Amino acid sequence: MSAIIAIIGGTGVYDPAILSDLREEKVKTPYGEVQVQLGKYEGQEVAFVPRHGEKHSVPPHRINYRANIWSLQELGVQRAIATAAVGSLNSDMKPKDLVMIDQFLDFTRGREQSFYEGGEEGVFHLDVTFPYCRELRQALFQSAKRQGLNAHFHGTYVCTEGPRFETTAEIRMYRQLGGDVVGMTSVPEVVLARELGICYATIAMVTNYAAGISPNPLTHSEVVEVMAQNVTNLRKVIMGALKELKPERCNDCAAILKEAPVRVGRRD
Ligand code: HPA
Repeated sequence: MSAIIAIIGGTGVYDPAILSDLREEKVKTPYGEVQVQLGKYEGQEVAFVPRHGEKHSVPPHRINYRANIWSLQELGVQRAIATAAVGSLNSDMKPKDLVMIDQFLDFTRGREQSFYEGGEEGVFHLDVTFPYCRELRQALFQSAKRQGLNAHFHGTYVCTEGPRFETTAEIRMYRQLGGDVVGMTSVPEVVLARELGICYATIAMVTNYAAGISPNPLTHSEVVEVMAQNVTNLRKVIMGALKELKPERCNDCAAILKEAPVRVGRRD
């Protein structure tokens, strides 16, 4: 099977509008079934998975991250671009800005973070010195710049457990720790993709200033509204990046596969 690229749609990105010849596939994984849409963009096969399910029916702490990522591997995906709505902790990162996340701080609790649970699956201590794929980040950043959008090549994503928003004190602490933006989904998604040698990048759209920085209480509808107003820009950036990218994984992300124990069903 040839390599394909995937888009993982976050809040506000529920339909694969840029793809033609769409078809739906139910992909079986050891963690459950995942509905994936497959289509074409510029002759390139692209898979689309809405992270929260259709119509945002699954909250961040209940997402079956392992099933989503394993389904991509089943389809032969070697590179994945994820979108995310985030709150900003950094006054340089304003609502509507795009951030090509390069680091995370993990404040999730009890999420399954590995495909390797010991026993037959083996034990694997994944290197996450640089968890996000630099080549994908570069392609997205350059595409955003070509569109004349405000984009940041670096940003530390604080991943909270959710589904509630944060307290003022939490945001103050995350800021002191070096966080730039806050969201609820990048971990363990990035970690799981990396375990399978899938190049993975998150293009984050700032939808609001975080709790206590924003003068108003936060609402999910505000986040969804800002995403809806700017989703066209996000799509354009992804389309521009797809034009430039080869579908095969980069050498840095491929190197993980030399380290990981071989799991049944894994595709190299
Ligand atoms: N906090 C957590 N997740 C978010 C936010 C926020 O302020 N904005 C968008 N997703």
